Amino acid sequence: MTAWLITGGAGFIGANFARMAAARHAGPLVVLDALTYAGNVANIADLIEARRVQFHHGDICDAALVDRLFATYRFDCVVHFAAESHVDRSILGPQPFLRTNIGGTHVLLDAARRAWNGEAGRRFIHISTDEVFGDLEPGDPPFAERTPYRPSSPYAASKAAADHLVRVWQRTYGLPAIVINCGNNYGPWQFPEKLIPLMILNAVEGRELPVYGDGLQVRDWLHVTDHCRAVMAVVEKGEVGHTYLVGGDEPRTNLEVVSYICRAVDGALDRAPGTSEKLIRHVKDRPGHDRRYALDSSFLRGSLGWRPLEKLETALPALVRWYLDHKDWTDAVRSGAYRQYYERQYAER
Ligand code: NAD
Ligand code: TYD
Repeated sequence: MTAWLITGGAGFIGANFARMAAARHAGPLVVLDALTYAGNVANIADLIEARRVQFHHGDICDAALVDRLFATYRFDCVVHFAAESHVDRSILGPQPFLRTNIGGTHVLLDAARRAWNGEAGRRFIHISTDEVFGDLEPGDPPFAERTPYRPSSPYAASKAAADHLVRVWQRTYGLPAIVINCGNNYGPWQFPEKLIPLMILNAVEGRELPVYGDGLQVRDWLHVTDHCRAVMAVVEKGEVGHTYLVGGDEPRTNLEVVSYICRAVDGALDRAPGTSEKLIRHVKDRPGHDRRYALDSSFLRGSLGWRPLEKLETALPALVRWYLDHKDWTDAVRSGAYRQYYERQYAER
C-alpha cells in the first residue's frame, strides 16, 4: 500500500483533492497542514473521522517534522498544495509568501530527495499557478509550457521561485518531479477572500460587491473537481520532468462572473431579477493587476485524455446553494481575523 503526502490538504483545493484521493487511492493518505487562516480541519473532518486521512497539524517549513513524516510513512507520492495563496494579502505583506511558498517548498524537495535517494516509482507533484506567467495582451496566444515567467505580484513571484526550485531539483538531483500550472479555481470550501465566494456571500447578505477597476480583467476559470481530476491523472500517468497547464477554456471578465453570481443568488433567494446587480461598486484597482490570463492545456488533454466537465455559468447556481447550505462554515471562517482583513483591504478603496 503506497502512502501519499498531501500538503495543504485542509485548504480549498487540497481538501477537494483529499476527498477525491480517498475515493480512488487505496493506500494511506497523510495531510500536513499548518491551519493558517485559510486552512480548516472541518474541510476534511469526515475523512479524518473515517480514518481515510491521517492529519498532521504542522508547518512545511519545519524540516525535522517533514523528515519524520517521510521516515514514518515512506511516501511514494507528494502532492504539494500548501501555500499562501491570495494576491491581495501578498501585496499587504509579502513575507509569509516567501517563507512558505519558497522556503517550505525547499524543505519538502530536500526531504523527498533524501528519503527517496534515486529509488524508482516516486512522484513529487508541485501545484502552481498561471500567475507565474504575468499577463496577456488582448490578442496574445494563451500561456503554454514554454512561456517565460514574468510574475506581477509577490504571490506570483514566490510561486515562480518555487517552480524554479522544483525544476532544478528534478534536473540536477534527479528528483522525480512534475509541475502543474493551473488557472483560477472555483468550488466548495474556497475561502471567501477570493472573488467568487466573496461575491456570493456579499450578494446573499446584501452588501456591496467591490469590483476592482473597470472589472474587465479576464481569468480562465476551472471547477476545482476538474482541477483535481487533472492532478489525479498527472499523479497516475504524468511524465516526470514535464509541466502540465490546466485551464478550463472559460475566459470571463470579472464583471461577467459577478453578473452570473448575481443572477444565481437572486434565483436561489427568490429575489426580483437585477436586485444583486445593484450592489456592484467599482473600487480602486489592485496595484500591478494582471489584465488577462488564458492557458493552453492541449498537452494535458492530448497526453492524458483529460478535459474539463463543468461550465462556470451552469455550475454557479449549485455553488451558491453550497454556500447557503454551509452557513456554519462560512460564519466560522469569517472570524474576527477575517473581519480585520476585510476592513484593511476594502475600507479605503
Ligand atoms: P488555500 O489558501 O485555500 O489553502 C492553502 C492551505 O495551505 C491551507 O490549508 C493552509 O493552512 C496551508 N498552509 C499554508 N501555509 C502552510 C505551511 N507553512 N505549512 C503547512 N500548511 C500551510 O489555497 P488553495 O486555493 O487551495 O491553493 C492550493 C494550491 O494551489 C496553492 O499552491 C496555490 O498556489 C495553487 N493554485 C491555486 C489556485 C486557485 O485558484 N485557488 C489556482 C492555481 C494554483
Ligand atoms: P482572485 O479571486 O483574488 O484571484 P487572482 O487574483 O488569483 O486571479 O481575483 C480574481 C479577479 O477578481 C482578479 O482580477 C481580482 C478581482 N477581484 C475583484 O475585482 N474584487 C475582489 O474583491 C476580489 C477579491 C478580486
